[in-house]
Amino acid sequence: MCGIIGYVGQREAYPLLVSGLEKVEYRGYDSVGICTADDTLHLLKEVGRVEQFKNHLLPGTMGIAHSRWATHGGVCQKNAHPFIVREKFTLVHNGIIENYLELKEQLRGRGDVFSSDTDSEVILHLIAQNFKTDLLSAVRQTVHALRGAYAFAVMAKGNSEIVAARNGCPLVIGVGNGEHFLASDVAAFIEHTKNVIYVNDFEIARVTKETVKISDFEGRGIIPKQREIFWNVEQAQKQGYPHFMLKEIMEQPLTMEETLHVPLPALPTPKRMIIVACGTASYAGLVGKYVIEKVARIPVVHETASEFRYKEPLFLPGDLVILISQSGETADTLAAARLAKEHNVNTLGIVNVVESTIAREVDDVIYTRAGPEIGVASTKAFTAQLIALYKLAYHFAGKEFTGKKVVLLTEQVLQLREEIKKIAERYVNNQHFLYIGRNIFYPLALEGALKLKEISYIHAEAYPAGELKHGPIALISEEMPTIALCLESETYDKMFSNIQEIKARKGKVIAFASEGDAKIKEICDDVVYLPKVDELLSPLLVAIPLQLFAYTVALLKGCDIDKPRNLAKSVTVE
Ligand code: F6R
Repeated sequence: MCGIIGYVGQREAYPLLVSGLEKVEYRGYDSVGICTADDTLHLLKEVGRVEQFKNHLLPGTMGIAHSRWATHGGVCQKNAHPFIVREKFTLVHNGIIENYLELKEQLRGRGDVFSSDTDSEVILHLIAQNFKTDLLSAVRQTVHALRGAYAFAVMAKGNSEIVAARNGCPLVIGVGNGEHFLASDVAAFIEHTKNVIYVNDFEIARVTKETVKISDFEGRGIIPKQREIFWNVEQAQKQGYPHFMLKEIMEQPLTMEETLHVPLPALPTPKRMIIVACGTASYAGLVGKYVIEKVARIPVVHETASEFRYKEPLFLPGDLVILISQSGETADTLAAARLAKEHNVNTLGIVNVVESTIAREVDDVIYTRAGPEIGVASTKAFTAQLIALYKLAYHFAGKEFTGKKVVLLTEQVLQLREEIKKIAERYVNNQHFLYIGRNIFYPLALEGALKLKEISYIHAEAYPAGELKHGPIALISEEMPTIALCLESETYDKMFSNIQEIKARKGKVIAFASEGDAKIKEICDDVVYLPKVDELLSPLLVAIPLQLFAYTVALLKGCDIDKPRNLAKSVTVE
């Protein structure tokens, strides 16, 4: 969480930093700040979005910038980055310094005065204290005192370099012609260069306009590996859509099709799989559990990463731990990968962002081909993760997954946009929603409810439909509509009975049903018909109208769809 950027070169740094900030703002958008340097430091920082900086200009051909998602210290101007200390040093930081209170105490004891409540400012005071003549040495000395996760960049007045260090948060350098960029994400500078150097954990980069030097925390030089990024600028733009989320929903036929073609690593068949992920990726994993157990008949344990990492999990010989992550940077999922590796258990990542930390740390990786996902609510990454999991299930069953037909049908499902809008208009003022499904549709109910609550701020809960009688049915009233996933399946009749029980209690029901199901129309208030496909493949189709419903409700409510309150795209802290 939080996005950092730096630039050093021959061009005016400020406009480059502003446009870079717009690209990494999805990582946090409470407050924003820029510091440029010529023979002095120039600072601008405010609560709010980068938009407000567009009509300004600060001088200088180098600078650092930050987009904040608050962890330590409230959302206010003094807590926004960059910080300046002794009118000479300035810093931006992404991550959490766990021992900042004790460091702050020590620094205060030596007379340092702090201008913010953040953990980040402590790093800068330490660097200032350790500085003799060389910024790199001061940073190297400082990192040994820090506990926690970070990627930070620091500049000193009168010095033409940016020094950046990484331990646990992403950091990538963009190599240009007589100029260099650094950022939390390549999106920040992809329009200027596709040549990148990924900085690893426990490495420090010293970047000037001509050179990039990398060393480890002990000062040993490392030869930087330069690579070329293959995705393009257009993929990270809205291309005429009002929101990234809508663009990303509409792209799904393509991103699913692309993911159908990803090669699978040569994996021995495991005795058991443990799928670990967070949020939407975790719900993809739950669908994966149903599919793998049904198709490959191999047991799968499904775990939420934030729980898994602290529960001393029991691993068995022949286990494969599968980590699913769009960003490849989610702190809890990464910790789960590391835990499995500590126990010498094989790890497989299903990851969207190429060369992200999880992708680099696992034994094998399947890259989903969703392309850059910018909207905070995950959509196309989810369906791409599903495709990867289907492929894996069929692979372990010794068969090939040919999902082409169902992927073609997603085009047809996207045509339901207008119909879904009409339904959304009827329910937009409801404060609570219940989502129900059985079997493979239960994770879809979870995902549908998550989409609605995160972008429209409407309370939504998901239950396996059979659980209603064990409590939640008490909530049913005219004010609590239910979204029922009642497609053709082995449990159709059971779902149908659950819907009748809700109707008997005056609850409104919006059903997602299979084409040709006339009888469901007779009992439900609204029905969205989807093409008939095998139950096992239905999640690929159901996901889309659920996304469209959440999107449309949020739109009608005037919510900030691509940047919902309190959220950030990459959860790189616990
Ligand atoms: C919801 C959403 C989050 C992410 C979760 C995991 O729409 O986007 O729940 O799915 O934070 O993120 P990744 O997949 O990057 O590990």
